[in-house]
Amino acid sequence: MRTQVGIIGAGPAGLFLAHLLRRAGIDSVVIESRSRADVEGTVRAGVLEHWVTVLMQGLGLGERMLRDGHFHDGITLQWNRQRHHVDIAGLTNGKHVTLYPQHEVLKDLIAGLLAAGNEIIFGAGGTTIRGAGTDTPAIDFRRDGAGPPETVDCDYVVGADGFHGPARQAIPAAHRTEYQKIYPFGWLGILTKAPLSWHELIYSNQQDGFALLSTRSPDVQRMYLQCDPADDIANWPDSRVWENLHARLDTADWSLTEGAIFQKGIIPLRSFVCEPMQYGRLFLAGDAAHIVPPTGAKGLNLAVADVLVLSRALEAQYRRNNPAGLAMYSATCLRRVWKAERFSWYMTTMLHSNDQETDFERRIHVADLDLVRTSESSARSLAENYVGLPFDDRH
Ligand code: FAD
Ligand code: DHB
Repeated sequence: MRTQVGIIGAGPAGLFLAHLLRRAGIDSVVIESRSRADVEGTVRAGVLEHWVTVLMQGLGLGERMLRDGHFHDGITLQWNRQRHHVDIAGLTNGKHVTLYPQHEVLKDLIAGLLAAGNEIIFGAGGTTIRGAGTDTPAIDFRRDGAGPPETVDCDYVVGADGFHGPARQAIPAAHRTEYQKIYPFGWLGILTKAPLSWHELIYSNQQDGFALLSTRSPDVQRMYLQCDPADDIANWPDSRVWENLHARLDTADWSLTEGAIFQKGIIPLRSFVCEPMQYGRLFLAGDAAHIVPPTGAKGLNLAVADVLVLSRALEAQYRRNNPAGLAMYSATCLRRVWKAERFSWYMTTMLHSNDQETDFERRIHVADLDLVRTSESSARSLAENYVGLPFDDRH
């Protein structure tokens, strides 16, 4: 098989890229190790930056998002049992974020690609990249995991295969530098069948840790609790989850509404960047190249930003024979990546309790929160980052 751009991974990075290339008249094939049902059923992120929702509409994929998504003009920060509303729209000339789950975005992207005749190979096994540093890169794989070996010959290979995928390892170790920070806490996430408790997201740090109140629909809510990343979910019966959520979210005159918990899991928190994001004709995009802790809601959005840069660069190469964008791909992306790393680290350290920190550092975090309450420029900086920095090549 031959294609112009071979894409490994049917996550947000790989699928948005396939759409953007299609719109530019460039062929691609997406190779994914999991089944379609697994990809469409995995619960992950929930917040789309303003420009991502505009992009989805531009790609003709906005219908369900506009119908089922929830548009939020602000967020609530909470500490010392006091709430403070951050007027995101007021501070960013009317921009908002959209609560529309990642797996619903993926369903829309997959349906759109298949309807347009774009090939997505689900359930592929043994995916390996050959000749990343040559002019003739290729992807080897086995259909349905165990079929006969097949090859996709490509002009370019894109590793959009997440943090644990093989693409980053295909860059020789001597050609990459990795920057990492592991946090001493994780998030326990739940989905619960309950009505809305509050009209916007609440990011809270009180009692002995962080909690986040988010939503999925009028009758399904998403909530997260800071926990030990090595803890076993079996140690968290529903009663213990609710007890901790109440302790971290309730105020003197408000209490969280409980419901039946139907999904529960623990994720670790890390910051990670691989530089550069390119080796020869292999380009990394999304979690394959960088990870942010989820507190800033940036992971999915950053993955889409990478592939927007990449699609523009590939279009310039194919249409105008201009290689400058491809040569600058990594540098262009990394400018935005490091700003998202900074913001995610800021939100994470400010909002979590960390017993490895000194009392001095704890007081600095309270001062950071109070600055958002009292200083309009601090609040505006948080709002601009949360809603998504403007998308142009300067960012
Ligand atoms: P992924 O979504 O990871 O997609 C990569 C795809 O590549 C996967 O489908 C994978 O199956 C496939 N793949 C891997 N290896 C191979 C192979 N060898 N061959 C073929 N295909 C392969 N972000 C937030 O902003 N908020 C959140 O609440 C949040 N929660 C998260 C919870 C979890 C458990 C995880 C893992 C991530 C979470 N994130 C969150 C981060 C966000 O979901 C990611 O940043 C986003 O999915 C990145 O998209 P991606 O396309 O780069 O990678
Ligand atoms: C959600 C996840 C986040 O990481 C975040 O910052 C806000 C909301 C969510 O899953 O709804």
